[in-house]
Amino acid sequence: MQIIKTVSSMQDYTLKMKSSGNDIGFVPTMGYLHEGHESLLQKAREENDILIASIFVNPLQFGPNEDFEKYPRNEQHDIEIAEKNGIDVLFMPPVEEMYPRELGITIQAVDRIDVLCGKSRPGHFDGVVTVLTKLFHLTLPDNVYFGIKDAQQVAVVDRLIKDHNFPIQLHMLETIREEDGLAKSSRNVYLTEQERNEAPSLSKSLQLAQEKIFDGEKNPAIIVNEVKNYINTHTTGKIDYIEILRFPSLKPITEVDQQVIIAVAVQFSQARLIDNIILMPDGTSSPVLG
Ligand code: PAF
Repeated sequence: MQIIKTVSSMQDYTLKMKSSGNDIGFVPTMGYLHEGHESLLQKAREENDILIASIFVNPLQFGPNEDFEKYPRNEQHDIEIAEKNGIDVLFMPPVEEMYPRELGITIQAVDRIDVLCGKSRPGHFDGVVTVLTKLFHLTLPDNVYFGIKDAQQVAVVDRLIKDHNFPIQLHMLETIREEDGLAKSSRNVYLTEQERNEAPSLSKSLQLAQEKIFDGEKNPAIIVNEVKNYINTHTTGKIDYIEILRFPSLKPITEVDQQVIIAVAVQFSQARLIDNIILMPDGTSSPVLG
């Protein structure tokens, strides 16, 4: 495995690989790799000649009061995980390499951002699409892999790729969970012991919503209420949002009559956890971007 830290070496490598006819799979990450990332890496490894992953904690996508400085980092552990998963190149640029000067042109996300996390994190998705545009140019992937746990991110990247004609196939992979249902996340390390015990209630509340839909419930307000009561009864966290929206357009609904996402965000003392489930009106789940 090669570790590349500069933009110019990354570009030289991808141009060489493309010109010799290789398919490139790319998994962008912010590091602190866990089984969720590994599932993306394994799928990408199976489906491509060359596998590139990036580790870059992107300052542009953190708000002034967010956890950019505190975001968990463990370079050595990440390198071991990358090696174990057969990555060809791990791209780990320092911030000055990605942003050597203040950007004169940024990309702004305007659709699919005024709901869910986008509502409480203004500018977050502008940072995400800006860095991904740079990373896509540097790695020239045929296939990119994202986890559906960050479903809004997937929906926004779907628009980035389609609106800006990147010749890239977007793959969204299911959420990887702990045995008790908690979605794997780099931020789970911030949970206290008690909060860690409460945290699986997020996925349980979503299962409850799924059961309601299975049973024929179509009214989003009733489903939201069910989820809200469950989380409030079983956790000390503060609900940031519970929303049911069409997926992937993230438009509001008055009835569960198409593919929908039910998404929750709960603020614990030091960690804000998110989770979601994507369902068809009959309660089944096999998410598609359409
Ligand atoms: O999901 C993440 O880790 C980040 O948002 C991404 C896609 C690597 C962009 O910085």
